Amino acid sequence: MQKKVFITQSILSDGIELLQTAGFEVVIEEQNRPLSYEELKEKSQKFDALITMLGDRIDEGFLRYNSHLKVISNYAVGFNNIDVQTASALNIEIGNTPDVLTEATAEIALGLMIAASRNFHSAASSAVNGQWKHWHPTEHLGHALGKKTLGIVGLGRIGLQLATLCRHAFNMKIIYFNRSLKNNSINATKVELPELLATSDFISLHVPLNRSTHHIIGKAEFASMKRNAVLVNTSRGEIINQTELINALKENLIFAAGLDVTDPEPLPIDNELFQLKNAYVLPHIGSATFEARRAMSILAAKNIIAGLEGKELVSWVNRR
Ligand code: DGY
Repeated sequence: MQKKVFITQSILSDGIELLQTAGFEVVIEEQNRPLSYEELKEKSQKFDALITMLGDRIDEGFLRYNSHLKVISNYAVGFNNIDVQTASALNIEIGNTPDVLTEATAEIALGLMIAASRNFHSAASSAVNGQWKHWHPTEHLGHALGKKTLGIVGLGRIGLQLATLCRHAFNMKIIYFNRSLKNNSINATKVELPELLATSDFISLHVPLNRSTHHIIGKAEFASMKRNAVLVNTSRGEIINQTELINALKENLIFAAGLDVTDPEPLPIDNELFQLKNAYVLPHIGSATFEARRAMSILAAKNIIAGLEGKELVSWVNRR
């Protein structure tokens, strides 16, 4: 019987065509919104495999109800939305899309570093608001990146890509916390987290979200940072205690923050972060380039094809 794959939101067509060519029936959610938890739980009953988005909650209840599923391919590198332990216990294979979005996400982190350190908000709004009367010698002053210290929390693929860009483009000094570098061509120095927080001019977060990384940046951590520090987060919003971030930005404990991820997502329009001139919020667009999203579409599909054909997933989260 023809196997059925459900894609929970519309993705670029490359992967869809691969799935169809491989002989699967593909159903793409037509509503231009994520399904609710209950809707997705019910709908998944009719399918053998899913391509899920990072906002789809695939928890124990979902998985036990849909234990017939063979493969879930998450359209993201992060898989904190999936209860991998339960999936493994139920023999449901989980895939993700690493590598193909590394460059796109590192570029967004770099963009946020520059926007936040060079006051893009206040400078651009002064131009639009008619406050740009003449060139001013002392307005909109920000902090340079050149030769400054970049602290990377979580030197995985994306963290390393950002570090490499910053090392080569801005001659930045790179320090990092956790992991070990095999090939240290960027002269990075491994330090403990307190030292990284206290000495970095730019701090970029790249750890995956799990119990041990939830709120690793909170009140005490902000208090220990340099007053000129720029904090960037392209990982998951819950890594930062957002209430404490807002306090730190209001009290100028740090210079600015650039966030591609927030807690929750979407961030309600009345959230204080949107009022702060030193907060830069993007709607989780780290991987949003044509190139990355096309490659993610292909990789997510390849994971499904391999899983449904009884082969090893190309990127297999719960490999046995
Ligand atoms: C992912 O894929 O997990 C990233 O958050 C994309 O930006």
